[in-house]
Amino acid sequence: MIDENMKIAIVGLGFVGLSLASVLSAKGYKTIGIDINKRKCKKISSGYSPFFEPDLEKTLRIGLKKELTISNNFSLINDCDFIFVTVGTPQCPNGAIDLSMIKKAITSIGEILHKNNKNPIIIIKSTVVPGTIKNTILPILEKKSNKKAEKNFGLISNPEFLQESNAIRDTKFPHVIVLGGSQTKYMKKTRNFFAKLHPNVPIIITNHQTAEMIKYANNSFLATKISFINQLSNICQNIPGANIDDIAKTIGLDPRIGNLFLNAGPGYGGSCLPKDMKALINFANNVGTKPTLLHAVEEINFKQLEKIISLIEKKLGSISSKQITVLGTAFKPNTDDIRDSIAIELIKKLLKKRAKITVYDPKAIKNTKNVFAEKISYGKSIADALSNSQCAIIMTQWKQFEALNNKSTKHMKRKLIIDCRRILAKKELDVDYHALGIGK
Ligand code: UGA
Repeated sequence: MIDENMKIAIVGLGFVGLSLASVLSAKGYKTIGIDINKRKCKKISSGYSPFFEPDLEKTLRIGLKKELTISNNFSLINDCDFIFVTVGTPQCPNGAIDLSMIKKAITSIGEILHKNNKNPIIIIKSTVVPGTIKNTILPILEKKSNKKAEKNFGLISNPEFLQESNAIRDTKFPHVIVLGGSQTKYMKKTRNFFAKLHPNVPIIITNHQTAEMIKYANNSFLATKISFINQLSNICQNIPGANIDDIAKTIGLDPRIGNLFLNAGPGYGGSCLPKDMKALINFANNVGTKPTLLHAVEEINFKQLEKIISLIEKKLGSISSKQITVLGTAFKPNTDDIRDSIAIELIKKLLKKRAKITVYDPKAIKNTKNVFAEKISYGKSIADALSNSQCAIIMTQWKQFEALNNKSTKHMKRKLIIDCRRILAKKELDVDYHALGIGK
């Protein structure tokens, strides 16, 4: 049974915030979703998500019918018991994180605390480097509210591990809950809230700085797994007949290794892993530890794109004025997100080499058009994008690309396919086929 009098605010309606607001309100919690972007709020209030995420709109609409209010008016958080902060912490040019959005949100929350007699718990989900809550967020909150943390309000770190394209599933069924902060009545209340929300999920209680570091440990380890398998995949490519997928599958059976995040490919992209790796490297340097392994992970990721381009050049000769098709621009399947997508970087590099590019993606074309507009062409289907092409490069692991067959490649000018995800490795196709991680 949920506490019907409990009121929850969520500040920042991106992937994390909107998923959380939708899931909590659909469960029946009185939830207020706050975002400074008025247009975004209007769209969400009408039951539409500003981005594509499986099951999100369905959950959002259930929430809106029940207990969800969406607004850009911060004063609505006034009588909330829990205030989740889920605003973005984008990357600065030097790799550090930009705290301007979180500072702004915290300032507004502090000003509201100043005026009321509630003792809310502020829960920081945004990804921030160790020390940020203690040294930046807490002082702003105390100054603006003129109140004391842990006495008049609670302040808890609660890093988030949800994956885009699985945001609703991960919000409903997290594998762990991390709570950082002091052992006060506020921590007890937060623990009880999460234990009720996610029975049987381990809850780790620690201090702020450890909780903040756990998030970076998690993402940098995932990035390390990917760069490890990508390096092995590059070795395999030089061993005739060797196959990286059989290797990954086998080592994944060793419980000490685990089978996830061992899919070799064009490198990790998206709005999280690249940014968090940079922030951790920058942070490590600032605290006097040379992050040599993390540097190597980044370098392997960066060089993966060069490997793809040199493979294209090896097969195609000069790239200039060649008609090249890029299949997949989203940074991974089941999303329309192209932030830090390796496919977008590839297109930029190919355009510099004067290639003529056509792309196809099941969901991300609108976002891709915002980047390239008329500079490239957009196929209506896989076959349309392949028509007249001299080389197709599969960048994203969309299920739809598995359907590619001799009929779809019929009108290719040159039947050359470079498959960075080995989607077609087991198919008999009448094409010159090359895959990352398979030795020829
Ligand atoms: C990542 C983490 O997986 C989440 O746990 C975390 O909460 C999130 O960042 C965050 O910090 O908010 P996400 O950015 O959604 O989630 O994407 P991932 O599923 O991690 O994929 C990242 C990139 O790695 C993609 O480009 C994907 O194609 C690539 N990847 C992933 C591989 O190349 N191989 C793999 O085996 C797995």
